Amino acid sequence: MTDQKTTALTEAYLEDKLLPDDPVLTAALERQTAAGLPPIAVSPLQGAFLQIIAQSIGAKRILELGTLAGYSTIWLARGLAEGGKVVTLELQDVNADIAEQNFEAAAITHLIDIKRGDAHKTLNIMINDGVAPFDLVFMDNDKLNYPTYLEQVLHLSRPGTLIIADNVVRDGKITNADSTDPSIKGVRRFFDALKDHPRLTMTSLQTVGAKGYDGFAMMLVK
Ligand code: DHB
Ligand code: MG
Repeated sequence: MTDQKTTALTEAYLEDKLLPDDPVLTAALERQTAAGLPPIAVSPLQGAFLQIIAQSIGAKRILELGTLAGYSTIWLARGLAEGGKVVTLELQDVNADIAEQNFEAAAITHLIDIKRGDAHKTLNIMINDGVAPFDLVFMDNDKLNYPTYLEQVLHLSRPGTLIIADNVVRDGKITNADSTDPSIKGVRRFFDALKDHPRLTMTSLQTVGAKGYDGFAMMLVK
């Protein structure tokens, strides 16, 4: 069994080989830490994964649920096709304030539409407004409500929309049907909603590294 120290060392090795030093991203994490926000942004390698996905599919419209301090948002914005935009939803004003500082410092403010407030409400407004479907969706907000967010996101999707959900493995605790942890219960209900879903082609990638053992779910709309 691979231990956490090995996976963290390996992650550092891979970062060193694969990712250039990036003062903008480093500063974004420093601002997140200084503001007392939790260290739960995606890892650098995962951020690069999101950028590569966005670039590969030529994403022009990206939706992110859960901005936090905007670290993953910056990676996503860097993957945008010409003329594209990231719409990112954040409940907490304190987070959104830090994120806006990070977008300024990263010179990407013009690529970002940050919408503050409850994601269910914001998504409903977008659905009712008939906004154009998104090319890529990154779900990374409160896990308890992943099932209902999924339903809403599907209303903002088209055939070919790629939906990626973060933190769906949670140390393997998702296999515990008796868990009382709201996040685990939410993720389990999310997977129940995904099972045999007629509109989705799906997979999941388990991840390890400095941030522990977790995983992504990936869903392509048919
Ligand atoms: C948590 C949330 C995240 O989005 C994440 O990537 C890691 C942890 C959390 O709420 O614990
Ligand atoms: Mg996450």
